Amino acid sequence: MNLKFARALGVLGSVLCTANVALALPLTQWETYVPGEEQEALDTTKDLMGFMKKDYTDQDKRMFRDAHPRGIGCVAAKFTVNSDLGKIYQTGVFAKPGKSYDAIIRFSGSLGPAGDNVTDARGMSIKLFDVPGTKLLEDQPNAVTHDFIQINAPTFPAPNAHDFAGLVKIKANPAYIVRFLAESPIGHALVLKNALALAGRNPNNGKSLAQMQFFSMSPYLLKGDAINTPIKFSSRPCGPVAAGELNGSETELRDDLQERLSKSSLCFKFALQFFTPGRGLEVEDASDNWTTDKAPFIDFAEITIPQQNFRTDQKLRYCDALSFQPWHAIAQHQPLGNINRVRKIVYEAISNYRHKANMEAGLYAEPVSLAPWNALTDPTYSVWKDVKIPAASH
Ligand code: HEM
Repeated sequence: MNLKFARALGVLGSVLCTANVALALPLTQWETYVPGEEQEALDTTKDLMGFMKKDYTDQDKRMFRDAHPRGIGCVAAKFTVNSDLGKIYQTGVFAKPGKSYDAIIRFSGSLGPAGDNVTDARGMSIKLFDVPGTKLLEDQPNAVTHDFIQINAPTFPAPNAHDFAGLVKIKANPAYIVRFLAESPIGHALVLKNALALAGRNPNNGKSLAQMQFFSMSPYLLKGDAINTPIKFSSRPCGPVAAGELNGSETELRDDLQERLSKSSLCFKFALQFFTPGRGLEVEDASDNWTTDKAPFIDFAEITIPQQNFRTDQKLRYCDALSFQPWHAIAQHQPLGNINRVRKIVYEAISNYRHKANMEAGLYAEPVSLAPWNALTDPTYSVWKDVKIPAASH
């Protein structure tokens, strides 16, 4: 057995053994257990690790995330709860109207290490600091962070983790498409169509990140003294944003964002949609569109991204090493539904896998503040223009 393969196997084995296979039971009143979902989570984790081994370890490259590997960049931000937020909504991170949290936001591309100039779905992951309360991720109960993970489309292509696992299997072996379609000819044809459309026909393609609206896609709980309701969340520009022109390069979204942030700050409104029974809104189906006629958005907070230089090697590397995860959350914002329950297992295992493979396990810890980020003052920007970097060079 060669050394590289042995190392990869060792990492895979140790990560799967330590992966937390407890799903988020007991379920809330809106959820329905899907038999076999733990196994689905483990199978998907193994499949994704297989891709990562093939794409990175086998080629002696630094390991990137399996999903959303393209780090467009991270920015420091402020997340401020609306000072006029209604009393019933004042819970969890929204408990104190007017409260401002330091935050770091990672913008990403969802497909392989492709450049910014390919059609793709983009992510906006927000990590708040100084959030009190026990975190739902059992391995990190004392973390002070709370994450909100979003993509620039309202719905996930697959209704459940089983169908998502089918997409993963097709990626590994395109012939699997025959079995996938045979299992549910109409339902799975729709999943395939949605998956292709999410990247290829995303209406945000060609736009600046500053112009995009991002969505949680899957539902979460908003739980407080006066409220206990599934919600979805979204971030949208505070007002009209000048279109500008992307430069057509592999880093066009990063460059555009940097140009804007060199001149002025950016602003997003953070809003929630509420589940109302009887309106045909689904909690267990992440492909269900909560349209605004059935679930209008209510503004809860404002995200300010101040002027800054985030496009440096140091900051891009720091950004890449972060981990965002729906279960970096307090109980007042519990992730809901089969897809979110499965994500609890998959994200933790995959994040550990890549940190171990990059030999950052000892270096990486969930951050407790923006201080380490603020200390990255070297303006050099060269290596991290390209995500295809041999692990050995780091
Ligand atoms: C069963 C369904 C899903 C699976 C298996 C899955 C899997 C993953 C994995 C493995 C990662 C990389 C984790 C890491 O290495 O730290 C990831 C990242 C990400 N996922 Fe998912 N995902 C799923 C559903 C979703 C949904 C519903 C959204 C909707 C917002 C989403 C948005 C993202 C984003 C934005 C990232 C990048 C996070 C970051 O910036 O670090 N995913 N996903």
